Amino acid sequence: MRTETGQVYKLKDYKPTDFVVERIDLTFELDPKETTVVSRVILHRREGVAADAPLVFDGDELTLDSLQIDGNDHDPSLYDATPDSLTIRGLPESGPFEVTVNTTLSPATNTKLMGLYRTNGVYCTQCEAEGFRRITYFYDRPDVLAVYTVTIIAGKEDAKHLLSNGNFLGGGNYDEGRHFAAWFDPHPKPSYLFALVGGDLGLVEDSFTTMSGKEVALKIYVEHGKEGRAGYAMDALKRSMKWDEEMFGREYDLDIFQIVAVSDFNMGAMENKGLNVFNDKYVLADPETATDADYANIEAIIAHEYFHNWTGNRITCRDWFQLCLKEGLTVYRDHAFSADQRSASVKRIAEIRLLKAHQFPEDAGPLAHPVRPESYKEINNFYTATVYEKGSEVVRMIRTILGAEDFRKGMDLYFERHDGDAATIEDFLACFAEASGRDLKQFALWYSQAGTPSVSVSTDWNEASKTFKVTLEQTLAPTPGQSRKALMHIPLAYGLILPDGTEFDGRLDTDDAENGVMHLTKRKQTFSFSNVPGRPVLSINRGFSAPVNIAMEQSSADLAHIARHDGDGVSRWQALNEQAMRHLVAVSKLARDGRTLPPARELADILVATGADDSLEPAFRAQALALPAESDIAREIGSNIDPEAIHTAREAVLSEVANAGLDVFARLADSAPKGAYSPDAADAGQRALAGVALAYASLAEGQPARAKTAYDSSDNMTVMSQALQVLVHQFPGSSEAEEALAGFKTRFADDPLVLDKWYSIQAMTPGAPTRERVEELLESDDFDRSNPNRMRALIGAFSAGNPTGFNAADGAGYRLLAAEVVDIDKRNPQLAARLLTAMRSWRSLEAGRQELARQALVSIREAGELSPDVGDIVDRMLA
Ligand code: ARG
Ligand code: ZN
Repeated sequence: MRTETGQVYKLKDYKPTDFVVERIDLTFELDPKETTVVSRVILHRREGVAADAPLVFDGDELTLDSLQIDGNDHDPSLYDATPDSLTIRGLPESGPFEVTVNTTLSPATNTKLMGLYRTNGVYCTQCEAEGFRRITYFYDRPDVLAVYTVTIIAGKEDAKHLLSNGNFLGGGNYDEGRHFAAWFDPHPKPSYLFALVGGDLGLVEDSFTTMSGKEVALKIYVEHGKEGRAGYAMDALKRSMKWDEEMFGREYDLDIFQIVAVSDFNMGAMENKGLNVFNDKYVLADPETATDADYANIEAIIAHEYFHNWTGNRITCRDWFQLCLKEGLTVYRDHAFSADQRSASVKRIAEIRLLKAHQFPEDAGPLAHPVRPESYKEINNFYTATVYEKGSEVVRMIRTILGAEDFRKGMDLYFERHDGDAATIEDFLACFAEASGRDLKQFALWYSQAGTPSVSVSTDWNEASKTFKVTLEQTLAPTPGQSRKALMHIPLAYGLILPDGTEFDGRLDTDDAENGVMHLTKRKQTFSFSNVPGRPVLSINRGFSAPVNIAMEQSSADLAHIARHDGDGVSRWQALNEQAMRHLVAVSKLARDGRTLPPARELADILVATGADDSLEPAFRAQALALPAESDIAREIGSNIDPEAIHTAREAVLSEVANAGLDVFARLADSAPKGAYSPDAADAGQRALAGVALAYASLAEGQPARAKTAYDSSDNMTVMSQALQVLVHQFPGSSEAEEALAGFKTRFADDPLVLDKWYSIQAMTPGAPTRERVEELLESDDFDRSNPNRMRALIGAFSAGNPTGFNAADGAGYRLLAAEVVDIDKRNPQLAARLLTAMRSWRSLEAGRQELARQALVSIREAGELSPDVGDIVDRMLA
């Protein structure tokens, strides 16, 4: 059995480097198997560092060709090079000196997609977090900032476009059939923001004039023939640039901003200075190939990477423990952007759903970690929902506590004070504390304590004295490595809805609440209101002001009152969702015990009425009609999970809603906008509502005819994929479903991104038999196992998006994932580790499945050589 190995890195061990880097000059001669890299680094010994202290650079799978100091070959007895480090002695005691490091790389065989690699004939790099050390020996850490000059030489045929960070310096012919380009980035940056791209690409160009009147050239590079699909990304980019100027006063700072879309990429995108590299999934869109969700993701991710230019690049992180400093903050910024571009409440509902679906289970299981972790073995495993999404919620809470004005003052101070710094969470919080005069010490625990706090809420209405009391009590369960927790500062937005549906505007008696927010800072606190005209209904954690679980005995009549009258759309959805969830949890438990399920009449009526209410936004109605997913119900139940029972119970409720509202759904199923497709939020909302309605109507009718007609007559990918999903999930194996699948495959045979949808829809077909289908698809000749999008579309969708298929009672789903993870790990550890996290909630399963899941995890652990990535995840999951 493999024993736990690998170094543990700790936040408290932070120490600056012994040498200070002043600048770096890189020259690449590109070749698929033999790219040479010459790195010239100017450094000096830091004040106070011993004269004999060696210079130690990081490496990863590197070999050193030669080493020069100030242009002369260095005495071989004065340095040691291993694949993962270069130690140099005999260096000047003071004054700057130049180290020249020569390495040779093979991009074509780099399957980890970290460092310099090839994707569809294009050279590209990914350096965050520790990929630069796969290119050359260097101080590959975020607190070492340097000014970069990059020269790229390549065959004109091999790579027509040669790109790097910063501004274009010049280029030209080099020798026989070869050319070069040189780039200079004046802004000091850490190595993780370095990027290089070389290839023959299609180009889409535009420009943007900044608030101070500077013209910036905008360029998006895509595969030839896909130029027509880059228009929406370009539009989103220009809107992002404008928005950051208006909302945060942030202006772009180079002459050129470039985006390159590549087809093999481990994550969504990367914010390299002036040269963002994107997974093509988040750039390419047109109505025939992209869904509304794809458009929304493109808008959000283009914005996210662009916003990093200030939150991440101009101000970067001191060390990787501070990852949330750039990621949580930048997610917060992209959320605010999307909310402004679309319907704010619908956007918030989607965020809450996502947070609960991904971050809450992470925080409740063996992979739980603080927003700012204090130790790690493999940093790649910390690009998590907790760092990103909870990290964003924490920033959002700062704004809730401070108010918009002081929040902006704090941000301004942060930009002013830390521009050019590698900063910490303490630096960030100090800006808000200073700008607002508030003490954020207790609040800072959100960064260091893992787990989702629970707040239990009880209310007391005194009719005689017209007083209303709210008592809040907080608890925070232990998480790995944190058995005892301190009390948190939890800001809970609230409203009191009076019997006539209006909102009570009186203030709290106590002053530890303000602006409609109760500040829970002690274990237990009571807030009271007097002169309340009639018994109010409490709407608490409005807009999900704090990422906590609320436990409150609220009657369904009270929930219905909120759902009907609350002035806040998010609260109305929360109340509806809570009602649905309660019922689903109750019937799932009955189904688990083999009991008969009670009718869901009341719930069905409310949902149908909401769906039918044309005075409400279509996107909101779509959200209201979408019942909590099976995984949401599982999370709510928390332990002894039987996915089959949850599925049975949820299907029964779906049928009841469908039958109760067939007329309404039949009408709505047809209500998608006709005519030219627009990706805007209003049209997308209508399509979303029509899509949910199509699923309900088909369920009530029990026949594929309606979905088949919708499929055959669809003229955009949103409607087409909705209809395909109904056919495949509700009528698996039917001739309609099989014909549609075959037609889709033929039609989009040359379009990998669209085919990914074809794989995902099949992988998510409920039920145990899907596993065999997934295995067949994996084995088919045209299945590309090296492409991360494809693996996520099939393996990821099956294991994370198909509770009954993946958790089949015989454990075959777990064994399939385990075998794939071990296989993928040999090529691409980051991808393997990410896919494996689908099993993070295995301990909450019922005993039989739990044992089978454990065996699958143990089989991975015993499979032999594991990467640090998979090793770390499997160790923590079994700990
Ligand atoms: N910084 C990138 C972003 O904008 C993600 C990089 C992920 N890197 C990794 N090794 N997982 O979110
Ligand atoms: Zn990011």
